[in-house]
Amino acid sequence: MKFFIDTANLTDIKELAATGMVDGVTTNPTLAAREGKDFLTLIADICAVVSGPVSAEVTALDATAMIEEGRRLAHIAPNVTVKLPLTRDGLKACRVLSHDGVMVNVTLCFSPGQAILAAKAGATFVSPFVGRLDDLSHDGMDLISDMVRIYANYPAFTTQILVASVRHPLHVIEAARLGAHVATVPPKVLYQLFEHPLTDKGLKAFLDDWAKSGQTIL
Ligand code: E4P
Repeated sequence: MKFFIDTANLTDIKELAATGMVDGVTTNPTLAAREGKDFLTLIADICAVVSGPVSAEVTALDATAMIEEGRRLAHIAPNVTVKLPLTRDGLKACRVLSHDGVMVNVTLCFSPGQAILAAKAGATFVSPFVGRLDDLSHDGMDLISDMVRIYANYPAFTTQILVASVRHPLHVIEAARLGAHVATVPPKVLYQLFEHPLTDKGLKAFLDDWAKSGQTIL
């Protein structure tokens, strides 16, 4: 399973990239606006740190303008993935940009029907938002389960399921259990995945015992 990090914060991205766990980055207009930096420069800076796919979202609503913005974004670096909303225009733009060889992440996917359309439009990634479904008392993981099953029925569908709106480690574990290709996780959740109290307790006990031996390795 690949891990992308869901942030536009360069400090977090650099710190997490150093763990070797980061296969890509997703941003959205909310996350990018928070950084208070020129958007194109921000994406270029992120692409200089992470060589995997870096999602940069268009803000136009009609297909022609989305394609224009998408081309501008794709021009920043070869690993830019143009993020397009799951709308009629978004999928029209997806078809054109994908045909041109640009990686596309179709975002704001909330139903299996939408996921089928994204695959048919040739998206590289589709982002189902599990946390936002959970917020409405729908089980976001049911959508992931449906998508994995549906895509498996059609080998011609090459779209990767990029689980988004991840709120806690269990979302990641369940997504992996179901066989989703990628999870995009906020920095906090990636750090949480490292942690277990028994690891800390076990390590402390080992080192206390070792200290009593009076030995050193180096
Ligand atoms: C994904 O690409 C989005 O940026 C993100 O996962 C949205 O998460 P949220 O629902 O926590 O805002």
